[in-house]
Amino acid sequence: MKKVIQDYPHLLHGGDYNPEQWLDCPQVLEEDVRLMKEAHVNCVSLGIFSWAKLEPVEGEYHFGWLRKIIDRLYENGIYTILATPSGAMPQWLSQHYDEARQVGPDGVRNLPGRRHNFCPTSPLIRRKVKKIDRELSRRLGDHPGVILWHISNEYGGNRLGGECHCELCQEAFREWLHKKYKTLDNLNHAWWTTFWSHTYTSWDQIHSPVPHGEIGIHGLNLDWKRFVSGQMQDFCMAEIRAVRKYSDKPVTINMMEFFRPLNYYKFAKQLDIISWDSYPQWHREPDDRETAMRAAACHTLMRSLKKAPFLLMESTPSIVNWKDVNTQKRPGMHELSSLQAVACGSNSVQYFQWRKSRGGEEKFHGAVVDHRNGSNTRVFREVAALGERLERISDAVYPTCNRARAAILFDWENWWAVEDIQGPRKDMAYLETVLSHFRPFWELGIEVDFINEEDSMEGYALVAAPLAYLYQEGYAERVKKYVEEGGCYLATYFSGVVDENDLCILERHPLEEMLGIRTEEMDAVVPESLPNTLSFAGKSWKAGQLREVSHVVEDAENPVEVLSAYEQDYYQGFPALTRKKYGKGSALYLACEAEEGFLKALYEKLTEECGIRGEFTGRLPQGVVVSRRDGDQPVWFLQNFNRAAVQVELPFSFHTVEDGRALEGNVTLRPYECLILTN
Ligand code: GAL
Repeated sequence: MKKVIQDYPHLLHGGDYNPEQWLDCPQVLEEDVRLMKEAHVNCVSLGIFSWAKLEPVEGEYHFGWLRKIIDRLYENGIYTILATPSGAMPQWLSQHYDEARQVGPDGVRNLPGRRHNFCPTSPLIRRKVKKIDRELSRRLGDHPGVILWHISNEYGGNRLGGECHCELCQEAFREWLHKKYKTLDNLNHAWWTTFWSHTYTSWDQIHSPVPHGEIGIHGLNLDWKRFVSGQMQDFCMAEIRAVRKYSDKPVTINMMEFFRPLNYYKFAKQLDIISWDSYPQWHREPDDRETAMRAAACHTLMRSLKKAPFLLMESTPSIVNWKDVNTQKRPGMHELSSLQAVACGSNSVQYFQWRKSRGGEEKFHGAVVDHRNGSNTRVFREVAALGERLERISDAVYPTCNRARAAILFDWENWWAVEDIQGPRKDMAYLETVLSHFRPFWELGIEVDFINEEDSMEGYALVAAPLAYLYQEGYAERVKKYVEEGGCYLATYFSGVVDENDLCILERHPLEEMLGIRTEEMDAVVPESLPNTLSFAGKSWKAGQLREVSHVVEDAENPVEVLSAYEQDYYQGFPALTRKKYGKGSALYLACEAEEGFLKALYEKLTEECGIRGEFTGRLPQGVVVSRRDGDQPVWFLQNFNRAAVQVELPFSFHTVEDGRALEGNVTLRPYECLILTN
């Protein structure tokens, strides 16, 4: 059964709270509760890095202090998201048990220290984590103030993405491969090891890919990435089982944007709620649009993982301390960037962190409560104002969620494979390519989801699949069925090139018949040296770095329409964009990368033809975007990312959610203002 937060069905506002750092200062803990109420905080995450206080000596547990804090918060109307403490190991554990610590690609085991550095395979660490998680759950898992489990912290969040190359991991990897391939012959074939005489003759010859060893077998690299992600997922599942022993509260993990090492689609299946930590670098550029687009894409990914509201688990109320330049959010940006998350489907605005640490690596990281001045700071006031606003919109917003009729394929395994390619370009920039297809939807105010190759395409009128190089088994068949039944599918250059083992698919593109295209050459150019253009919608657009040379496959019954052709070079006149009817739907093929404006024009046309434009499409000035959350009563979030005021012409009359004010015609949005509207 799908679990949601039942104990407190409201928008959450609060953040990471680390009272274990202040246990010897009771006045600070008292002040915290008072200030939380002043800041309209209704929820905190507790215990994320508390292992050393919960189990100061191996096998000796101290939960009393935590219970007292959860009790006091609850009495004051503040709920707890309770974390398992595996994100950072206590000294007694990491000093005493070598096996618990990760080994790097160079074969050197980490020394104790820092965090996120446990070996996910080690039976020892798994036993220790299970024990502390169960104790936590047994003692606090049914507390009425606890509404959600926060499993560990940012799995894989270190410089190696959580991968460990120790002997236990090597052994587990070999077993994983054995299970998958059954025989070495199968493995050698899938990895094409005859190339350079790399045939494996015994399972124990297999080693994880490392820079001073084997990194040239793409099947090995891909399987290793699958294994690393799967091993962490398994570790997470073990933690979930441990807390479930005594508690049936829902579970989440705090994810990290488009985080390459972990396939979050797979994690999502074992979680009740998705949550993530968002740290965009506002004001880095003179214009915040690009930053806003990327943040929106991340929020969209999180919503897409379960097609449901998610939680913004961490964000900074002011600055971070780990970028090269840590700029304060300008007045207004905190509210706008937080509401942007809600606009995209978040049911919370949570911070890292409530109170600034006095010492340690994060003592200059932003927090709601600074080292000095209590509530008398700009940051505190902005946080409190936002908290109040969230309270006012909660009833209208909480029951809603964005519903997209368009989807963009973003597939982790494809990402791993594309970025491991040798040629046609060193940097194939999969994520950037996907974002270039997301941008037009965001600018046009049209809701879109991300899906992976295993997801159903049902319900989407349009699916765009940029740079889908690797086709999983059965993917092409699912696409054909989707189009046959009426869907509109856009494939691009360098798609359907390899199978799930990263072996080239021979003879033809798996969708050749549907697309009506036969690809012949893949060209990668420096556009300034070999400029080319393509015609579309009455204009010439610049072609990008990757350009495919393809031919139309004649089909008398369903002829291919060439919507755009190259205008220069030896492939002048060759198709750059085509469309073919197939079953009740249609399939498009985009043969090259093209400038931003081209993609916008293309999606304007396609979304119009598919009947999925938004109410504001075509009316939004630069830097103003809209998101729509649906429910009995839809809610629109009209967001101005410009540093200046702008006018927007409303398509019909609205009411503001907060105070029911009627609005129609032209409205002025202040710099960084977000209007929350309903009809
Ligand atoms: C997150 C992490 C937090 C804190 C924060 C600082 O990645 O989960 O514990 O370190 O970054 O921005």
